Amino acid sequence: MLYSEKVMDHFSNPRNVGVIENADGIGEVGNAKCGDIMKIYLKIEGDRIQDVKFNTFGCGSAIASSSMATELIKGKKLSEAQELTNKAVAEALDGLPPHKIHCSVLAEEAIQAAISDYYQKQKK
Ligand code: FES
Repeated sequence: MLYSEKVMDHFSNPRNVGVIENADGIGEVGNAKCGDIMKIYLKIEGDRIQDVKFNTFGCGSAIASSSMATELIKGKKLSEAQELTNKAVAEALDGLPPHKIHCSVLAEEAIQAAISDYYQKQKK
């Protein structure tokens, strides 16, 4: 089979879909080649990610990657979330086909972008 059961599960039943109003950090990234876009919203309390939601306009693997990535960082410390790699996301999904690895990269980048947005806003 091309996709793991976990990928299929997170694709057909994605966790944490949506928008957080007044989010503390927002990250939006896209992949120019496939045109897919991913947006991550963070609610931060102290040094913890209290809530996280995503909106992904993209392929099934991108949706599954966003879903898994948000599950992996929910309730975690910011410092832990910063260490999340696309490899960890792909592994948690029991793997992605080689030509779909960039979809998990999008998830890593979107989370990093949302965290830097949060730090930027803190500085102001
Ligand atoms: Fe581009 Fe999946 S094909 S994010």
